[in-house]
Amino acid sequence: MPPSPTSLVDRFGRRVNYVRFSVTDRCDFRCLYCMSEQMTFLSRARVLTLEELATLGRAFVDLGAHKIRITGGEPLVRQNVLWLFRKLGQLREHGLAELVLTTNGSQLERYAADLQAAGVARLNISLDSLNPDRFRRITRVGELDTVLRGIRAAQTAGFQRLKLNAVILKGRNHDEVTDLARFAIDNGLDISYIEEMPLGVIGDHDRAEAYYSSDAIRADLAQTFTLIPSTENTGGPSRYYRIPGSATHIGFISPHSHNFCGDCNRVRVSAEGRLLLCLGHEHSVDLRQVLRAHPGHHERLKQAIIAAMAIKPRGHEFQLGGQSVILRHMSHTGG
Ligand code: 5AD
Ligand code: SF4
Repeated sequence: MPPSPTSLVDRFGRRVNYVRFSVTDRCDFRCLYCMSEQMTFLSRARVLTLEELATLGRAFVDLGAHKIRITGGEPLVRQNVLWLFRKLGQLREHGLAELVLTTNGSQLERYAADLQAAGVARLNISLDSLNPDRFRRITRVGELDTVLRGIRAAQTAGFQRLKLNAVILKGRNHDEVTDLARFAIDNGLDISYIEEMPLGVIGDHDRAEAYYSSDAIRADLAQTFTLIPSTENTGGPSRYYRIPGSATHIGFISPHSHNFCGDCNRVRVSAEGRLLLCLGHEHSVDLRQVLRAHPGHHERLKQAIIAAMAIKPRGHEFQLGGQSVILRHMSHTGG
């Protein structure tokens, strides 16, 4: 079925047809740009149930969303999460074109085949280093080899165009950008390099000091590869390049150095069911309250989502100096 036009349009005429659900704030890693070492996680009652998430998915698809991304935290550490993927996968009969997942890869060996069967179209897998010791230092507890096995399992399961997400930090892994690109090319993967976003107080490093711009990464890569700007634009913050003779797409996600708000097509739902209209603002609408006060009242939920479009801000205002203005962590929001 061709995607229907979205009924979600904001004050600036931007069409919202893409929603990201954070299905848990928990994670089996503790990446130093994402979490502090001691994290307090949400109690179960505050997190949307899988049924509530399925209901929300249906509401968004009815409103014309054609892409849903599942994020976290780490989505695959949530109990019974496959049930949700299967439910959301069924929404393809109602106009959902793409169900996709962002994961740290730690559970993929176990889940890749089931995710593929549930109708997940693509995976983004976080990979910041190819050196086991460094990988451990960045994730604090993660094991590189588990993730590499997860990537292979996803390829074996039949996933096409897997994408690596690498957050690049000066002094941590900025000297690996070329090795990561080489790994992507050799393994038929896409890769996006991400500038760190100032989300949540993490207390571990100085974000201004660790800043490594997309332009710097691109200059590093240009020493080894020819980068050809690609015409494709997903309506997101990524700018893509191709390398002659390779199928790999190389993307740059640059919240600091490039403003991408003008063609923003997305909203997010936090693990607690807050509809977040912009990554860089606290504006939100409590959809959990709507879901729980009016169970089964589908129209009410849809009206709340439509009404929320009126408060979608024009853009973000991340700052590198000083404290993070956004108190929530990425694990609450979804990347
Ligand atoms: N800035 C940029 N990227 C982040 N991620 C998590 N926290 C941050 C942050 N503060 C990334 C992860 C993963 C995706 C979900 O978001 O590395 O690739
Ligand atoms: Fe977990 Fe992803 Fe955050 Fe790392 S960045 S701690 S893998 S949610």
